[in-house]
Amino acid sequence: MLSNFNIITLFPEIFKNWLDIGILSSGFEKNLFELTTTNLRDFGIGNYKQVDDAPYGGGPGMVLMIEPMDNAISQSKKDVNIFLTPDGQELNEDLIEELHTYKSANIICGRYEGFDQRILELHSDYEISIGKTVVSGGEVPAMFLMEALLRKLPGILGNSESLKYESFVNDKYDHPTYTRPEVYKGFKVPDVLLSGDHKKIDEWKKNNLKDI
Ligand SMILES: C[S@@+](CC[C@H](N)C(=O)[O-])C[C@H]1O[C@@H](n2cnc3c(N)ncnc32)[C@H](O)[C@@H]1O
Repeated sequence: MLSNFNIITLFPEIFKNWLDIGILSSGFEKNLFELTTTNLRDFGIGNYKQVDDAPYGGGPGMVLMIEPMDNAISQSKKDVNIFLTPDGQELNEDLIEELHTYKSANIICGRYEGFDQRILELHSDYEISIGKTVVSGGEVPAMFLMEALLRKLPGILGNSESLKYESFVNDKYDHPTYTRPEVYKGFKVPDVLLSGDHKKIDEWKKNNLKDI
């Protein structure tokens, strides 16, 4: 399964806090996966460590230059190179499963107006979008992609049962969930969930998976 990641980004510090919380933190400490970052700036050109330049043909914003990106990717050999791009293949559970047929990946984050097209032609195995909207950089999409991948790794979730009725498993959304108190402002927890009858509860859960 895919458990060895290197994130290529201009902002590696973003990933520090993310990795420090919850299931990711304990999974990382238990070596259930490996995660490194490569700072694209380290591969910048000249005294100013330049990584971006104006687009050919004019237009707003800056484009990530091909050479720093090529050098950053070339020093990090992995099974696949995954670029985050708004116009990429839209992420879903089938794609998560397909990615888990590999062992290691570079996850490559764009910024500004995005990548020089030629870096994609040179190094891309996958171009992945997290949805039909644009965010400012590939870092949040990278976290989104990696969380979807990591929760499938054995040992990451406290209780592997969590994956059993999870949304998108068997083409359904998860069933509704409740916790204490039993009644809040007149809104009640379904009686069956308080019954202690595990067979009936399991049946209720199955019957309450929502259609996609
Ligand atoms: C501001 S965006 C570039 C937008 C680009 N000019 C366009 O209109 O498609 C900068 C970077 O954010 C990342 N990004 C933005 N939206 C994304 C999405 N929906 N899925 C994956 N990555 C995204 C990509 O890495 C992209 O190169």
